[in-house]
Amino acid sequence: MAPVIGDVLRIQKVKKTFGEGENAVTAIKDVSLKVKSGEIVVIIGPSGCGKTTLLRLIAGLDKNYEGNILNYEGNRIEGTGLDRGVIFQDHRLLPWLTVEENVLLGLKGSKEELAKRADKYLEKVELKDFKKAYPRQLSGGMAHRVAIARTLIRQPDILLLDEPFGALDALTKMSLQEEIERIWQAEHTTMIMITHDIEEAVYLADRIIVMSQRPAEIDEIFNINLPRPRDRKSEEFVRYRNAVLNTFQAATGSYVI
Ligand SMILES: Nc1ncnc2c1ncn2[C@@H]1O[C@H](COP(=O)(O)OP(=O)(O)OP(=O)(O)O)[C@@H](O)[C@H]1O
Ligand SMILES: [Mg+2]
Repeated sequence: MAPVIGDVLRIQKVKKTFGEGENAVTAIKDVSLKVKSGEIVVIIGPSGCGKTTLLRLIAGLDKNYEGNILNYEGNRIEGTGLDRGVIFQDHRLLPWLTVEENVLLGLKGSKEELAKRADKYLEKVELKDFKKAYPRQLSGGMAHRVAIARTLIRQPDILLLDEPFGALDALTKMSLQEEIERIWQAEHTTMIMITHDIEEAVYLADRIIVMSQRPAEIDEIFNINLPRPRDRKSEEFVRYRNAVLNTFQAATGSYVI
């Protein structure tokens, strides 16, 4: 796809209500946000506030909403599309296919060309030697890297990540954050990521969006002006992390997210 200059996504006064009448639950109340090409936006907010709901709307997995979510062409998003790739917390690899077959699933081309493409993306996530392995032979972190390769090979304009590393141990998580950073350095893919991990947010984000309790609205936005790759131990990094943490505590009355 041709590079997009300017906003790849415009979210305008989006509201989402589940159910009707007395049982209606408004998950998102009034969210507006523009995402620039090549930007990494990280969304944090209390559990159940509506983050996944918003990401699903952006992905086009739910087309029933008020307001507008416009893609780079200005068209309202009402379905999934190859311009948007999603990585969920649960990686959803198919157990009966090899790593390579999982990555290539549904793609068309000659055998040689596809094998070359798979190699290129498996190399990016350092798994080329495991292309003939099955998901059960992989660790949790490796399976996540396959899922990342499977999404990247489709060359989406926007990568949507819903707590992709939530279930992983701290060290694996850090190495995958660094992987995402390297991929961003190489491809400048626009990313929207949800996380519960404030350090992860400060490590990766150009902008951190703090959502309120449900019905979700945007409480505060932090611009993280730190050079990449970021040093988690630097004074500035810690200062940002504490600032986000303080806002979060003020907004929710707790550090629990
Ligand atoms: N399909 C659905 N039907 C009815 N209600 C739903 C549905 N999906 C989500 N909700 C409700 O919408 C609200 C927001 O849910 P959502 O999954 O977006 O939260 P979240 O911010 O992603 O939470 P978490 O951080 O725990 O993942 C919740 O109150 C939830 O019960
Ligand atoms: Mg969620």
